[in-house]
Amino acid sequence: MSAHLVIAIDGPAASGKSSVARVLARRLGYVYVNTGAMYRAVTWHVIGSHLDPSHSDAVLSLLESTRIACEIEAQESVVRINGVDPGAELQGEQVNRAVSTIATIPEVRRQLVAMQRAYGEKADSVMEGRDIGSAVFPETPYKFYIDASPEVRAQRRAKQGLQDSILQRDKVDTSRRMSPLVIAEDAHVIDSSHLTVDGVVGEIVGRLKLKGLLAADF
Ligand code: DC
Repeated sequence: MSAHLVIAIDGPAASGKSSVARVLARRLGYVYVNTGAMYRAVTWHVIGSHLDPSHSDAVLSLLESTRIACEIEAQESVVRINGVDPGAELQGEQVNRAVSTIATIPEVRRQLVAMQRAYGEKADSVMEGRDIGSAVFPETPYKFYIDASPEVRAQRRAKQGLQDSILQRDKVDTSRRMSPLVIAEDAHVIDSSHLTVDGVVGEIVGRLKLKGLLAADF
C-alpha cells in the first residue's frame, strides 16, 4: 500500500487521459503524475545518444550512467535526465516512434515503476499511464480506464499537429510481455469519444462520490 491516495487513469494513446488527469488533479488538489513522460524522457535520451532503441543491452548500459530525477513542481511531475527537462521534445515524432519499444524493456520498466511508486509515498496523486491500475498500484480502489475510438484518437493527435502512429503504439503496448496495457478487472471504463474533458472529469468525480472518497456536494 502506498502512503498516499492514488487515482489511476489508464488507457491507449490519445484517449484524452492526460487532459482529464491534469484537470482532475487540479480539482482535487492532488499532484498530476504523467508516467508516459517518464518513458518518453528515457527514449529522448536514447535517441540523443544515437542508440538503437531496440538494442536493450546498449539502452541499459546507457541508463547505468544516467541520472533520472522524478520531481514535483507546481503540483505536476517533472522528469529530468542528467539535470535536463526535455520539455516539448518529449512529444516529438522520433520519440513517438521509439517510445513503445523502449517501454518493452523489463529493466527500464522496473526502474521507472519504482519511481512511480515513490510518488505514491510523497503526495496524493492522479497518475496516468498504461499499467497504473493493473501493475503499479493494483491495490488502489480508484481505477479508471479511458478509451476512445481509433478515429477520434487519430483526429485528436492531428488537431494537436503531432505525427503519431497511435495504432502501431497500441499494438506494441498491448502485446508486450511485461505489464501490457489491459483494463484492470476493477477499473471503471469511460468511452471519451463523444465527451468533453469536463464531461469525463465529471463522470470520474461522480464515481469517486459513490465510492465515498468525495463528499456529495464536492
Ligand atoms: O501516455 P503516452 O502516450 O505519453 O505514453 C508513451 C508510451 O509510454 C506508451 O506508448 C507506452 C509507454 N507507457 C507505458 O508503457 N507505461 C506507462 N505507464 C505509461 C506509458
